[in-house]
Amino acid sequence: MARKFFVGGNFKMNGTVKSITEIVSRLNDAKLNPDVEVVIAPPTLFLQQAIKENKQSTVSVGAQNIYNQTSGAFTGESGADMFKDIGVKWVILGHSERRSLLKESAEEVAEKTKFAVDQGFDVILCCGEQKEDRESGKTMDVVAAQLKPVISVLKESDWSHIVIAYEPVWAIGTGLTATPKDAEETHKEIREFISKEVSPKVAEEVRILYGGSVSAKTAPELHTQPDIDGFLVGGASLKPEFVDIINV
Ligand code: PGA
Repeated sequence: MARKFFVGGNFKMNGTVKSITEIVSRLNDAKLNPDVEVVIAPPTLFLQQAIKENKQSTVSVGAQNIYNQTSGAFTGESGADMFKDIGVKWVILGHSERRSLLKESAEEVAEKTKFAVDQGFDVILCCGEQKEDRESGKTMDVVAAQLKPVISVLKESDWSHIVIAYEPVWAIGTGLTATPKDAEETHKEIREFISKEVSPKVAEEVRILYGGSVSAKTAPELHTQPDIDGFLVGGASLKPEFVDIINV
């Protein structure tokens, strides 16, 4: 089974009512490759607006986080019931900014991932190493430690709701992109790890995205790598070049 190419747009904490309308209109007006699955993830405040304004059948809308409860006395959080009510389909979990700045542990990420899948969402599960980890040859140890708690809570069938985003932390928002060769090597190792720890079937089917300063310039060569099944795009997802990345 061929893995469908996937492009996610992580807007992070950026946007206004006006700019979200502009971004969604640009996607609505574009001729998007129908074989590419696209998910845009605006800030929670703009989810409903993006869902209402989106007219593209291949584009869905995702949240950048979820709390591991449906609703209740959890001040400041957003729960599964609300996301379902407004039509959110996807959730990004384990992003390095949440792991480092918000101190989310691998276990919390795993718990939220299981919760989100049980609640009927699909998950973009992020992982990735720091610069020092790569330099000391520990990339796969770090990624494995991030993925293991998730593997231990998910059933094999849950994996059809997961897309992995490999995002080397040193490449996020820095303009530094992993070379296609380095990215491919890590993607291949992640797939082998999933094969060993989950199953060869899941490894064959799960999509592994690359993220970290993806641009219209870097996307074409990254796209040709056999184990790169798409991108998670931050900064460039706010710009017109996002369409070029989708159509790569
Ligand atoms: P970037 O962000 O494309 O701006 O590097 C990617 C991400 O954090 O998902």
